[in-house]
Amino acid sequence: MTIESEADMKGLLRIGRVVGRALKLMQAAVRPGITTGELDAIGAEFLAQEGARSAPIVTYKFPGTTCISINDEAAHGIPGKRVVQVGDLVNVDVSAELDGYFADTGGTVAVAPVSAVKERLMRCAQEALDKGIAAAVANRPISDIGRAMESVVAQYNFRVIKDLPGHGVGRKLHEPPSVPGFYTRRANQPLTEGLVLTIEPFVSVKANHIYTEKDGWTLRTTDGSPAAQFEHTVIITRGKPILVTAVND
Ligand code: CO
Ligand code: CO
Repeated sequence: MTIESEADMKGLLRIGRVVGRALKLMQAAVRPGITTGELDAIGAEFLAQEGARSAPIVTYKFPGTTCISINDEAAHGIPGKRVVQVGDLVNVDVSAELDGYFADTGGTVAVAPVSAVKERLMRCAQEALDKGIAAAVANRPISDIGRAMESVVAQYNFRVIKDLPGHGVGRKLHEPPSVPGFYTRRANQPLTEGLVLTIEPFVSVKANHIYTEKDGWTLRTTDGSPAAQFEHTVIITRGKPILVTAVND
């Protein structure tokens, strides 16, 4: 969506803060021995308390309130009985709707101690997000975002998972335009003021692609190498984008 009124701005910032806080709560609860189902319940309780509805449920009938993806699971992992272990990378992705507005955020946490390569992978994905955000300026092409993120990933000698782009968001969970995590000429449309998008680099150690597991949801890297992702919903301006899902307290 594009922000067109004060009401749009308020509505979007409100759900942005809700999903941002839900993500923080869930990430803070990640520890060895907790199940992904228990983590999901923390997010579900908070969203319900705020009057928000899970976007994956509302939109896709996803079998969980949030997506929790571990190690080589890049995205859309189904919360359940799986027990979090020392050495895991746990990605939590929270998206939800409130009063007709949708926001989407995510992040990966390490269950310490993790391997040095997993540590670097997380740092790479976080830095790619930061650089992608810095490139998201009105009148520049959408492809500048992917170009910036891809160059960070190349410096680390990791791979962008090309099948998982960012996207427009706001009135629905997934809206146009697509925001590829790498440079492509196809993404040459200019960013416009007020446009609401997600920026979400998916990075893996060696895989450029994912496949869907038999459960019909979980997306795993094709070579089994671990993945990391960080995601914010942003509003495009002529300067720094507004970070809708950033929570500092
Ligand atoms: Co997300
Ligand atoms: Co997203």
